[in-house]
Amino acid sequence: MQTLKLLFVLLLISFEARAKDVQECEEIAAGSHICREIESFQQLNGYVQEDWRSVKVINEHTGIESGGTKALPALSRLLHLDLSESGGLTLGDRGLRDFTQLEGLNLTHCQLEELQEEHFPRNSSLRSLDVSYNDIQLITGKVMDRMPRLVYANFSNNLVAEVEINAFKGLRKLEFLDLTTNEQENVTLGENANLRYLSISNNNVRDFRWCRLRGVPNLEELHLHSNWLENLDMGLFFATPRLRVLNVSNNNLYEIKANLFAAANERAVPLQLLDYSSNNVKVLEDLVFVKLTNLRTLNLWLNQINRIHPRAFQGLSALESLQLQGNKISALPDEVFSMLTSLERLDLSRNKIKQLGASIFGGTLLRQLTHLNLSHNNMMELHPLAFSGVPHLRELRLRGNKLTVLDLRMFAPLRRLQLLTIGENRLEEIEGDILETFGNLSHLEINNNRLSYLSSLQTSEYLLQLRHIRIEGNPWQCLCLDEITAWLDKRQVGYARPSSAYYSGRKPLCVVTPMEQCLRDLEAVRAHGLVESYEQI
Ligand SMILES: *[C@@H]1O[C@H](CO)[C@@H](O)[C@H](O)[C@H]1NC(C)=O
Ligand SMILES: *[C@@H]1O[C@H](CO)[C@@H](O)[C@H](O)[C@H]1NC(C)=O
Ligand SMILES: *[C@@H]1O[C@H](CO)[C@@H](O)[C@H](O)[C@H]1NC(C)=O
Ligand SMILES: *[C@@H]1O[C@H](CO)[C@@H](O)[C@H](O)[C@H]1NC(C)=O
Ligand SMILES: *[C@@H]1O[C@H](CO)[C@@H](O)[C@H](O)[C@H]1NC(C)=O
Ligand SMILES: *[C@@H]1O[C@H](CO)[C@@H](O)[C@H](O)[C@H]1NC(C)=O
Ligand SMILES: *[C@@H]1O[C@H](CO)[C@@H](O)[C@H](O)[C@H]1NC(C)=O
Repeated sequence: MQTLKLLFVLLLISFEARAKDVQECEEIAAGSHICREIESFQQLNGYVQEDWRSVKVINEHTGIESGGTKALPALSRLLHLDLSESGGLTLGDRGLRDFTQLEGLNLTHCQLEELQEEHFPRNSSLRSLDVSYNDIQLITGKVMDRMPRLVYANFSNNLVAEVEINAFKGLRKLEFLDLTTNEQENVTLGENANLRYLSISNNNVRDFRWCRLRGVPNLEELHLHSNWLENLDMGLFFATPRLRVLNVSNNNLYEIKANLFAAANERAVPLQLLDYSSNNVKVLEDLVFVKLTNLRTLNLWLNQINRIHPRAFQGLSALESLQLQGNKISALPDEVFSMLTSLERLDLSRNKIKQLGASIFGGTLLRQLTHLNLSHNNMMELHPLAFSGVPHLRELRLRGNKLTVLDLRMFAPLRRLQLLTIGENRLEEIEGDILETFGNLSHLEINNNRLSYLSSLQTSEYLLQLRHIRIEGNPWQCLCLDEITAWLDKRQVGYARPSSAYYSGRKPLCVVTPMEQCLRDLEAVRAHGLVESYEQI
């Protein structure tokens, strides 16, 4: 009996194994198939049925080769071929010529060193070609001319050092050309009437002249980040009058010149996004962006900016996001942001700003500004009226400064504030009437200051919306801290973070005092030397 059973099981297993061998292809959607362990186009040709439209080859143990000289007619049924997981493609005499109807071809990770014209059918129907992650060095016009209907070409992550001039000229439908992560030194694209998206990011381009883009008058996005550019010549919009996105981040650009944005007929230019981050710009001159009336996003983070002229941002009336973090700004001229009437987000964190004057936002109200980040600066003072022009702030970050006092007048206008971080400052006291203005606050950070008490919370209607608070790292009197945490617990406000050193017992949360109750008097607290004794623990 036992032996019989075993035999039966063995039989079953061998039957299943054989079934799997035969079923190398499975249908994953109507007309769409995945085929495994396919060694050649000839083998694939044997599987492709009348109604097949799309095949992805997945090989774990082998690559795939085109081989043979015999025509493989079934392959002409396919509209999409994905060999990105085929383990490498070896193109023999016929190359991909049997795929006469192909519209989408994915050859990423195929270990290709070159593309030859005889590998592609004449007048192919290809619209999308992805050959990223290969070792291609050269792009020639002869190969590209075989694909007159191409819309999308992705050559990223190859070794392309040379693109034949006008290689893409005949491709009248081409809109996207990605040459990111290659070896190009010069841009030799030549003409292409309809190109809209071009990336030559992460190449070795040192010297770029916009006139080289004269052949691509419809370009809308240009990505040149991570090259070796040191300066940009004038007149970008003469060559590409429709440019909306320019990314020159992570180069060695040491200035921004107004004449870069010069355009024919003094027209307004359409640029919406300018990413100039991670360069070496030191100064922002007056009127440098004045032409950019459609700009929405300006990224200037991680430069060396130490001077901003008062009218540097003039003209940017559509700007929504201004990123200046990680520069060397120590002072902001009066009115510098006052013309940015559409501004929603301003990031000035990680600079060296010493103080915030009364009128950096000028007399105008910046009604759209909801996010302001001033964390990690050197601010010892905020002018009491510094935020009077930005009453709609929802998030204000002041963490990591040197503030010693807060003034009621700073926060009184900020009725909509939902998030406030003032952790890592030097506050000794937050007055009760300031807490009272925080009616909409749901997230508050006052950790790592010199606070030893908060004003009496018992009866107050403070902080009704509060959900999260950070309080650790202050020399709280233990009695005061007990009151605070009892109050927070009652309100179901989250404050403890078990992973932090303070809540796991590695750092002290409060100071035991001889007093019988929480002492709410700054002078008396100072006389007891509470801050000093906490810092010594
Ligand atoms: C090609 O295949 C790769 C890997 O499967 C995938 O990441 C990529 O998006 C595909 N390309 C196109 C154009 O679909
Ligand atoms: C290419 O194919 C299209 C559509 O099938 C056809 O109209 C055109 O004449 C062909 N061009 C050449 C050069 O064969
Ligand atoms: C080109 O391919 C790379 C690598 O897969 C991908 O990250 C990139 O987004 C693609 N480019 C475009 C324009 O789709
Ligand atoms: C790139 O252009 C510069 C001058 O425009 C030239 O000196 C250099 O040889 C060119 N490099 C290549 C690889 O063609
Ligand atoms: C610009 O390029 C940088 C790489 O240096 C990249 O991180 C950033 O996302 C790009 N910006 C846009 C808007 O695409
Ligand atoms: C500054 O704050 C904003 C939100 O107000 C946030 O999105 C941004 O990431 C912060 N900047 C840095 C450098 O952390
Ligand atoms: C909370 O914000 C709303 C507008 O978002 C405002 O009308 C209201 O007065 C604020 N509440 C308090 C208590 O400040």
